[in-house]
Amino acid sequence: VFLDNVCNEIIHLDQKKLHYYKGNYSMFKKMYVQKRREMIKEYEKQEKRIKELKAHGQSKKAAEKKQKEALTRKQEKNKSKQQRQQEDDNGPTELLEKPKEYIVKFRFPEPSQLQPPILGLHNVTFAFEGQKPLFVNTDFGIDLTSRVAIVGPNGVGKSTFLKLLLGELEPQKGEQRKNHRLRVGRFDQHSGEHLTAEESAAEYLQRLFNLPHEKARKALGSFGLVSHAHTIKMKDLSGGQKARVALAELCLSAPDVLILDEPTNNLDIESIDALAEAINEYEGGVIIVSHDERLIRETGCTLYVIEEQTINEIDGEFDDYRKEVLDALGEVVNNPSVVANAAVL
Ligand SMILES: Nc1ncnc2c1ncn2[C@@H]1O[C@H](COP(=O)(O)OP(=O)(O)OP(=O)(O)O)[C@@H](O)[C@H]1O
Ligand SMILES: [Mg+2]
Repeated sequence: VFLDNVCNEIIHLDQKKLHYYKGNYSMFKKMYVQKRREMIKEYEKQEKRIKELKAHGQSKKAAEKKQKEALTRKQEKNKSKQQRQQEDDNGPTELLEKPKEYIVKFRFPEPSQLQPPILGLHNVTFAFEGQKPLFVNTDFGIDLTSRVAIVGPNGVGKSTFLKLLLGELEPQKGEQRKNHRLRVGRFDQHSGEHLTAEESAAEYLQRLFNLPHEKARKALGSFGLVSHAHTIKMKDLSGGQKARVALAELCLSAPDVLILDEPTNNLDIESIDALAEAINEYEGGVIIVSHDERLIRETGCTLYVIEEQTINEIDGEFDDYRKEVLDALGEVVNNPSVVANAAVL
């Protein structure tokens, strides 16, 4: 959605080449689907033709050569004279390669059965030292079927709220309550940053979960980590690749509840979709803090907003929340004194 609102041109790095598209991301997506279909058709035509030639007694090499010549002729026909001159010394055209597809698919295992209440805050008041309280007399609870998306402006206390739930911060008043058998999996923008070892991702998962090498690699693959990245030192992985290793680790630890703090920060669009899908298929409880409208929409979470030192459920959809936020902004924008005062720090 963000890309749709901001971009009017998309450059796609695909099959080792840059492809230029006019229009926003949704339009690109449509055009790309169409283009892929054509590429696959062309590739299948080529393969069929080679098969036919071979069936008529030609060797594999001769058949491929003939098909290559046909392809060169066809491409020449589509080029202008100038282009032809520029590419004169590029050598013979290669055969079409089978279009590879970039597919990411995550899957979290099923959680165990636990009696509610499984996780919550009871009458919690919390403030960082010397600051005004972020939460006052706050109650919140989930069970194994809860799907919660928490929204709110920067600095309102979303990450702090999750830390209170995880028991990483102690409230001044009230308490965190948690079923003692509950296994909580967490993922945030720092997940993966701890992966700075000389050890490879495959070795890391093998060691952590006592897995055979092949299984560790399979897990990494299903989280979209390219094959060569399984065996290089983890400290040399990119931020997004480290995030994938951390997601694979999270999945292998088979949690009952997932707590995700802005999980999409390091992920590309395909992986955000894959994460949304994995969350949808996952059977445990989910709490997501996210500014990513797409993720919230696709996971069908109940919206909660942190405001006025507590957390409240929003009845209605994301659009209602957005309208509420925009209306609040409107009040500010329409009040010159508020704007002027806000402009001067
Ligand atoms: N360890 C800390 N010590 C003191 N103050 C902190 C600490 N951690 C966070 N804060 C403050 O508490 C407030 C809430 O921070 P928090 O990280 O929970 O916000 P958030 O809602 O997650 O914001 P964002 O959307 O930017 O992630 C902020 O004003 C922050 O500066
Ligand atoms: Mg935060």
